Amino acid sequence: MKKKLGAIIHASLDNDLNLETIVDILEIPKARQFGDYSLSCFALASIYKKNPIHIASWLAATIKDEFITSATAAGPYVNFHLNREIISKECLKMKVPYLIPEKSKVMAIDFSSPNIAKPFSMGHLRSTVIGHAIANLGEKCGYNVVRINHIGDWGTQFGKLIAAYKRWGNEQAVMKHPIQELFRLYVKFHKEADVLSELNEEGRSWFKRLEDGDLEALKLWKWFREASLADFQRVYELLGVQFDTYNGEAFYNSQLSGICEILEKKGLLEHSEGAKVVSLDKDNLPPCLIRKRDGATLYATRDLAAAHYRKETYQFDKSLYVVGMEQSIHFKQVFAVLKKMGCSWHQDLHHIPFGFILKDGKKMSTRKGKVVLLDEVIKETISAAKANIEVKNPQLENKEEVARAVGVGAIIFHDLKNDRTNNIEFSLGEMLKFEGETGPYVQYTHARGCSLLRKSSGIKSENVMALTDDSSWEVLKLLVQYEEVILSAFDKYDPSILAKYLLQVCRAFNSYYAKVKILEENQSLTSRLLLVHSVCSILKDGLTILGIQAPEKM
Ligand code: ARG
Repeated sequence: MKKKLGAIIHASLDNDLNLETIVDILEIPKARQFGDYSLSCFALASIYKKNPIHIASWLAATIKDEFITSATAAGPYVNFHLNREIISKECLKMKVPYLIPEKSKVMAIDFSSPNIAKPFSMGHLRSTVIGHAIANLGEKCGYNVVRINHIGDWGTQFGKLIAAYKRWGNEQAVMKHPIQELFRLYVKFHKEADVLSELNEEGRSWFKRLEDGDLEALKLWKWFREASLADFQRVYELLGVQFDTYNGEAFYNSQLSGICEILEKKGLLEHSEGAKVVSLDKDNLPPCLIRKRDGATLYATRDLAAAHYRKETYQFDKSLYVVGMEQSIHFKQVFAVLKKMGCSWHQDLHHIPFGFILKDGKKMSTRKGKVVLLDEVIKETISAAKANIEVKNPQLENKEEVARAVGVGAIIFHDLKNDRTNNIEFSLGEMLKFEGETGPYVQYTHARGCSLLRKSSGIKSENVMALTDDSSWEVLKLLVQYEEVILSAFDKYDPSILAKYLLQVCRAFNSYYAKVKILEENQSLTSRLLLVHSVCSILKDGLTILGIQAPEKM
């Protein structure tokens, strides 16, 4: 709709201002009575060398098209009312949600990527839900998506963990509650290492043994890894998230010397106090550490190998890393080193950062053992959802299933409605709210629409009349924006654009529902049912993209 209006304006202006610029400056006025769209003429002023007020009144007087019912100048702006009759009919006949283009490109996306032997943190939850939504958006926009869980399963911390296990560990306890017990050992190690300095040395030497393929070290590591993965799997099942590969950091071990060789051959490796680094002075970045003094490789080295492996294996057109903002420098360094290595595809790699989850205004730290356990949070929201159902709809058949969908939906939406890069204050209370700007509110609106459709005697689509009253119009205008919203959410890698749009649709639809007798038998019944049907399809499609289920009854 916006594009079409832009094209009409573009055609009536005889200059070389391009169409995109016009579409960009078209805005939806704050007060609806001004019109459906408003064009600011400031951008035109410098081209026409006339003042914007003059241009606005000229444009309002000249522009004519059946798509526009009125164009009025208001100072430097032109306000447009669009033809409800035409747009409404077109919109109601349209098949929503729109078709997915043929998939011709590949997108690799690295998200979630928790560290084994540590609880799944709230930060990893953010990466998981944001990454999952971006992956779905990519699919919708024509990409074949490869979902990668780059598990943190290598690094000096595993030396520390083995050292801790050898000192204080208990096999039974690890078998029973792997993550809890391993995490307890990890926290204890850090506490004790503050006073017992030889502990750190012990940890380092266990990691060295691990890197050298020592059997005992490897066996323990494998056990910790598998037990942790099984624990994470529970969370993924609850969230409905799947991956194509769990190739974690350790997977790249055999490829690291190859990376070092290339760097050496290209003359990029510098020796600095016994360690090997790639200097990134010219990029205004700290040097990228490739090998430590003791020969141990690092997180960055493994990311360099992983990037090469992904390019070779998946032939991606773009490759995303959904990882917290605190790793921005790391990704800048990795991408800069790839550029130096001559990988032209370095520009297809993007770090997609997100803000922190704060507790009482402070960052949460796993080191000190202060974590909010995701399992508990999910359990609580599900039981709150269940209690809610018992009050509102005790007859509901599949209560357990719906409670899960609602509880999990509340958590996911609570995250995704925030701009990706904003920090979020963790608040269980907010997550347990089911009204206002929440996932359950969107789910509930969808179920309300489904119930209307069930009560109706079906859609007989031959007779589509235009719906032109204000409250239908507010809904229709939003529905035609869906495709634009999806494209923009993907373009900016920000699911919040979609989440906020869904809230708008719900608000418009609920006020429509309050004002209009939807099921009344008269000429426009079919059109009203088509409108409800479109709302339901879009809400369901949008929620699915966000990773949230849309039950038909709640
Ligand atoms: N495991 C890392 C962490 O928890 C995140 C890994 C992100 N992916 C990557 N390719 N570096 O901090």
